[in-house]
Amino acid sequence: MARTALVTGGSRGIGAAISKALKAEGHNVAATYAGNDGAAAKFTEETGIKTYKWNVGSYEESKAGIARVEEDLGPIDIVVANAGITRDAPFHKMSPEQWQEVIDTNLTGVFNTIHPIWPGMRERGFGRIVVISSINGQKGQFAQVNYAATKAGDLGIVKSLAQEGAAKGITANAVCPGYIATEMVMAVPEKVRESIIGMIPAGRLGEPEEIARCVTFLSSDDAGFINGSTISANGGQFFV
Ligand code: CAA
Repeated sequence: MARTALVTGGSRGIGAAISKALKAEGHNVAATYAGNDGAAAKFTEETGIKTYKWNVGSYEESKAGIARVEEDLGPIDIVVANAGITRDAPFHKMSPEQWQEVIDTNLTGVFNTIHPIWPGMRERGFGRIVVISSINGQKGQFAQVNYAATKAGDLGIVKSLAQEGAAKGITANAVCPGYIATEMVMAVPEKVRESIIGMIPAGRLGEPEEIARCVTFLSSDDAGFINGSTISANGGQFFV
């Protein structure tokens, strides 16, 4: 069944693959982005997917942006909270600003994205929420005290929403990608990246489309009994 889907951070990296995969399923998709106007315009030109600019770290911007999307495309049935940033530094060098920026985007941003949409999902008796967490929220990571804290927190959000939404036809699940071939991972120094790939039993980085396929499944009508779960897609690097 064709539904309306919102993907935050949906014009680049894993988010772009998710937006395209949801469109290929027949859904009406809106993709948000924070700042890169050029990439968003190119994405819309290439895919026909509408993009909307707002900062997920701001509740007011999120609420207003979501209202615009719903005016354009109708009530949102599928939310993919994907927008995320890194500000990596060993803990002794991590600044309060690096901590706060990551908390605002990766954790508060998930609240800000889901909260304005939640009442409508409850009223209509249907919703699919997928939060993109990370392997590093499951296992921790050197130089990512901030990022790992948010991604672990995202799992808490999902497990709690799953309990609150179940009776209203809403599911909330998480996908924990491992190291995927995106700009975020390519920004890691090459030597470090090579050593990380050496720790992945699959012997390679993942592809964004491999994460997108998890999301299309979890957001389908057929996945109604999967609720509060975490899918790890990491090439065998870490098992919970
Ligand atoms: N484990 C143990 N030690 C490590 C390490 C690790 N994983 N990585 C670096 N170190 C050590 C280095 O060997 C070095 O030790 P020495 O001082 O004894 O030589 C020290 O830590 C690095 O110190 P620096 O002062 O040089 O560190 P820096 O301030 O320049 O920071 C860094 C460098 C930010 C840590 C950089 O190495 C880095 O980016 N590492 C990768 C972090 C990472 O994996 N991020 C994931 C990004 S992808 C993502 O987040 C997506 C996802 O969800 C999976």
